[in-house]
Amino acid sequence: MKLNTLNKNKILKNIDVDRINIAIYNTIGSTNDKCKTLKQSNDFNIVLAEEQTKGKGRMGKEWSSPLGNIYMSIAFSGSKSNEPLSLISGLICQEAINKVIGEDSIGLKWPNDIILNKKKVGGILIEKEVLGSDVTNIVGIGLNLKLVKKESWWGDLSEYQHIDRNELINTILRKFISYCDKGIDNWKEKWETSCMHLNSNIKIQSNNIKINEGMCIGITNRGALRISSNKDGKICEYEYGDISIKGVY
Ligand code: BTN
Repeated sequence: MKLNTLNKNKILKNIDVDRINIAIYNTIGSTNDKCKTLKQSNDFNIVLAEEQTKGKGRMGKEWSSPLGNIYMSIAFSGSKSNEPLSLISGLICQEAINKVIGEDSIGLKWPNDIILNKKKVGGILIEKEVLGSDVTNIVGIGLNLKLVKKESWWGDLSEYQHIDRNELINTILRKFISYCDKGIDNWKEKWETSCMHLNSNIKIQSNNIKINEGMCIGITNRGALRISSNKDGKICEYEYGDISIKGVY
């Protein structure tokens, strides 16, 4: 693993720097929180840190953020209102990692977990700041390149020693900007192709309480999960929640 420090020039290679404000910190509470304090004076405000002391995960969970991984937040105004930014951000990261490692081994777990070998190697936290009619989207991306202390369900990308953090961040940013400018063709089909639990039996839960169990049959255009319930075969759609799959974290 090339653990070179974060480098602005490498991160912004082949990117129109006039559209971007970028700030890189050694230590910060949370890159998402920092992003929220910045005025949206350019197309994209980007905050990166070597480590976070108050890294935030989904559902109020903590995101372990030691040195050596990727902690990035991207803020931008407006959105393609019908599309699920969270799922699309996961797809962008998954495609970027596969491109950089030169393999197809990274998959997705609904709604936006990034998976390698059935373990979670990355996650996305979307937040929105609304000020009058201005909406700023904050896309927080955490990717584990090397974790020393691991929970059983945490994974990392350390088997890919050749990953260059700056190159991976650059690849994510270029894909992200391209999505904001032009969209992604067939994002739903791409997401479903990368989904590691399509046609598997899954449990869906909210606040750790099981609310349904059944066969995952895909997602809707708005990113809701579609399940054919084990009880009665009824098709149910879920916009929020967490899922668990046997054998996966
Ligand atoms: C998840 O729970 O899966 C989402 C994890 C998101 C972590 C990233 S790290 C960069 C950004 N800053 C934060 O505090 N959280 C997100």
